[in-house]
Formats: sequence, structure tokens, C-alpha cells
Amino acid sequence: MKIEGKNYRTIWFENNEVKIIDQTKLPHKFVIKSLKNIKDAINAIKTMEVRGAPLIGATAAYGLVLSIIEKNDLSFLKKSSEDLISSRPTAINLKWAVDRMMKKLSGVNNSDILKIALDEAKSITEEDVKFCKNIGINGLKIIEEISKKKKDVVNILTHCNAGWLATIDWGTATSPIYHAHQKGIKVHIWVDETRPRNQGANLTSYELNEEKIPNTIITDNTGGILMQRGKIDMCIVGTDRTLSNGDVCNKIGTYLKALSAKDNNVPFYVALPSSTIDWNIKDHKQIPIEERNSEELSHVEGIDENNNLKRVRIYPQKSKSLNLAFDVTPAKLVTGLITEKGICEASEQGLKGLFK
Ligand code: MRU
Repeated sequence: MKIEGKNYRTIWFENNEVKIIDQTKLPHKFVIKSLKNIKDAINAIKTMEVRGAPLIGATAAYGLVLSIIEKNDLSFLKKSSEDLISSRPTAINLKWAVDRMMKKLSGVNNSDILKIALDEAKSITEEDVKFCKNIGINGLKIIEEISKKKKDVVNILTHCNAGWLATIDWGTATSPIYHAHQKGIKVHIWVDETRPRNQGANLTSYELNEEKIPNTIITDNTGGILMQRGKIDMCIVGTDRTLSNGDVCNKIGTYLKALSAKDNNVPFYVALPSSTIDWNIKDHKQIPIEERNSEELSHVEGIDENNNLKRVRIYPQKSKSLNLAFDVTPAKLVTGLITEKGICEASEQGLKGLFK
């Protein structure tokens, strides 16, 4: 997708380095950063220079490429893979990508390993682009239907950033929106600010602006009244881990939005590539929910009148705070799952019908 009219992807390999768009600087500064070794890759994931389930999976895959360039040694590679998996706990794509890479590399000669690793990391990214594009083509049908019935602008609410910045291109939740816009369907997006890190305001609104899609940022508490007043036609969100029973784990606050959508008969869709399905965990209480530094709540960052990035504390110094990054929306609140293979019910039967 585009930034200032130029097409970008979120990650690419160039001159033995991995290039990323540093998302901690957006929307105020557009900075391309080079990851030169495994430590850089792990740090980029931990500090959220790259974030979003599919993108951290791709970064982990390229991280293993960097590990091989740094030291072509099996025990170093194993340690790199373990460190990558533990760099963020909730999104399953991280483990999925590392496991896929390690399977491909098992038993490979030292002389061939770099080429094979690079090819596999590239195919993980290319596959994600294809899958996200298909999610868009499939989800477009839902927006088209609402538009035909309503004969007016379709208002869609989204939470966090499940846009192209969270993937390699297109995004998951945003892909149907981009496809609808490209087809000339009038859409307007309600963008949840998504505290504490504001990925909605900082990233989703930014990328929609760059694609000239009308959008309005709202606080995370505003969706309820907008739904009660008929201002939201549908919700589309992403997911970091989808259980085989259709429960979805996504950015904190998604669950409350789904409850509100249910109470107001607003369709609530979750868009995902199959790389976010966890076929093993059966009970959502077993999903490791990331708890991040409470300073992400107590401090905010922004730009001052002189264009300088500033970070300020907004909480009383003595107050405690809890920063859980994700919550779980039970399948019963999900209208449907939009995947690369089609749309299905949020249930074991629905997912197995498409993927097994
Ligand atoms: O903490 P983040 O910014 O990595 O969380 C991202 C989300 O919750 C996204 O909705 C999810 O990864 C889906 S991305 C297509």
C-alpha cells in the first residue's frame, strides 16, 4: 500500500540486511530501519518497531536468516529460534513462522542453509500478501451487500491496527475496506484510538489517510453509543490467535466492542490468515496474555509545537496500573471469520470446513 503516493511493504531484505518501517515513530516520522543481526530482530519485535501478528511472524523468519548470516552454527540457530519465540507471547504467528523455518532447515548442509532460509522467509511474506489479498476479496462481498441494501456510505468500526502495517501488505481487517474503496464503494471508518499504545490513531488512521479513505478516530469507549444510534453498519477486527473453536484473541478492548455489537445487532467480523489459527489450545484461559510495561499507560508520546517528539507522564506518580495487551472474544459474539479461503462460522466446524 502507499505512503505519500509510493508503494511500500512493511519488511524486505536488501544487501544482507532486513529493512523495516519503524512503527514506533509513526505517524510523526517515517523512518526505514535496518536490522543487521538477530539481536536487532528480537529488539524490533519486543519494542514494537514491528508489530501485528503476521508482521512479527515474518520478522522472526527473517531474524533466523540474520542469525545464519551472523554465525552459521546449529546451536546458535536453535538459541535464536527460542529467543524469537519468547520475544512476544500472544500472537501465534511468531511460533508458527519459527517452527516452519526450523522444519525447513532441519538436516540442511551449512553450505545451503542461508539460501534455503532466505527462500523460506520470502515465501512466508509472499504467502501472507496473497492471503491478505484474498481476505479482502472475500470480505468485500459483505461490504458490497450492506452498501447495496443501504444505498449510502458503509460505516465500519475497527480496533487497533489490523491494517497493512500489521501484515506485509493489504492488512487483514483493512483488506476488505481497501478492496471496497478500490471498487468505488463509499466507506467511512470509525477508528478506535486503542489505548494504551494508540495503534488505531497512530497507525490505522495514518494508513487510511494515505489511501484517501475517510476515517474518524474515536476513543475506545465511543463505539457503544455509535452502535445504539445506528452509526456503525459493521465491525471488522484482526486476531493474534484464533482457537479452533472460533474464540479470537486480539488487542485489549476487542471483547467489549463485540459485546456492544451483539447487544445492538451490529455484525462483528474477524479477519485472519490461517497462520493465526492455533489448533492445539482448546481453552482460551491457556492463551498467554502479554502484560506490558505499565509506563505504556502512565506515559504518552506526541509531537510538540516545534515538531519535537515528547514523552510525558499523565498518571499520578504513586498510582499503580495494569497493562494487559490482549483479550479474548468468545466465538458466540463473532458473526463470521473472514479468511483467505472464504468466510466461515466462528466454530470448529466452520474452521475445519475450510482448513482440514
Ligand atoms: O500489540 P500489537 O500492535 O502487535 O497488536 C496487534 C493486533 O492486535 C492486531 O489486531 C492483530 O495482530 C491482527 S494483525 C493483522
